[in-house]
Amino acid sequence: MSHLQASELFSVKGRVVVVTGGGSGLGRTIAHALAVNGVSKVFVLGRREEALQQTATQDPNVIIPVKCDVSSKESLDAAYEAIAAQTDHIDVLFANSGIMGPDMPMPKPKADGSMPSITEVRDQLYNVPMTEFTNVMDVNVTGVYYTVLAFLPLLDAANSKRPAPQPNVLSTPTPQVILTGSLAGFNRKPPYSYAYNVSKAAVHHLTKMLSTTFTSYNIRFNGISPGLYQSEMAQHSFNDNGVPDAGISDGSFPVDMIPLTRAGSQQDFAGVVVWMTSASGGYLNGNILLTDGGRLSVMPSTY
Ligand SMILES: NC(=O)c1ccc[n+]([C@@H]2O[C@H](COP(=O)([O-])OP(=O)(O)OC[C@H]3O[C@@H](n4cnc5c(N)ncnc54)[C@H](OP(=O)(O)O)[C@@H]3O)[C@@H](O)[C@H]2O)c1
Repeated sequence: MSHLQASELFSVKGRVVVVTGGGSGLGRTIAHALAVNGVSKVFVLGRREEALQQTATQDPNVIIPVKCDVSSKESLDAAYEAIAAQTDHIDVLFANSGIMGPDMPMPKPKADGSMPSITEVRDQLYNVPMTEFTNVMDVNVTGVYYTVLAFLPLLDAANSKRPAPQPNVLSTPTPQVILTGSLAGFNRKPPYSYAYNVSKAAVHHLTKMLSTTFTSYNIRFNGISPGLYQSEMAQHSFNDNGVPDAGISDGSFPVDMIPLTRAGSQQDFAGVVVWMTSASGGYLNGNILLTDGGRLSVMPSTY
């Protein structure tokens, strides 16, 4: 029964991985979790070299910084060439880079309970410059899409390295792209940022479209949709709720906000990442995995 032991089920030994946004937050957790569990290489991509170097300090032999702006094809091409010079394939690509959108809250109801006028709603939302909306799309949607396209040849190369199938022996997983979506992509409530929520809904749909398109090429596409995890991007939610730390102990957040009353932890995220990257994640294709402590279940869908 050794094939059912956790050490076999969740082994990521020897895998070669690329993580965009690997210089901070969830991307850094992905890189650290995979490095500590025995992948052979994790290339971490982002614009800030210092942040990437900081991620790599955990294991400089395995974690390799590559400067890259995912919103530029030239930069993606340069990153691809730098990586292709160091490996002949990649097993998993995490298209994880993302930015928060501009603050676009709906005006609040008035003291007497009446709704803001349509002019007030229009003024508040229309005042946000168009470029702030499109900047979010450039990184979160266009950047993710072109990241995937850029790395297809190295992903495809992983297929040619898979051993020939043996009767009644589980084949090694096919290459996979894991896109970082968001709980926000499911959220219909007047959001913090229309641009951000729309961008993440697009990432979810992109994941499904790509998984359909590339079935015949044996490249799998799955998504992870985090709820609230402490990071540079998410820090405002911790500040707004007076949470001074990572918020991972029970009671850190109100139950009507997050049923488990806490933020996601590095362990919560690392567990999902290791599982999806491992042999036992090899049957996943076209899924969006929500890890949100039940938050979506209690999100109001109306104003
Ligand atoms: N934390 C949460 O609660 C949460 C919830 C749902 C979804 N997410 C998603 O998780 C992903 C990671 O975010 P995070 O929470 O870990 O926040 P974070 O620490 O702010 O990470 C965002 C990463 O994206 C990179 N990035 C931004 N623009 C880029 C560009 N043009 N080219 C390359 N890299 C770029 C940043 O690196 P550089 O600035 O160095 O380029 C940074 O490392 C994002 O897609 C985010 O939307 C997070």
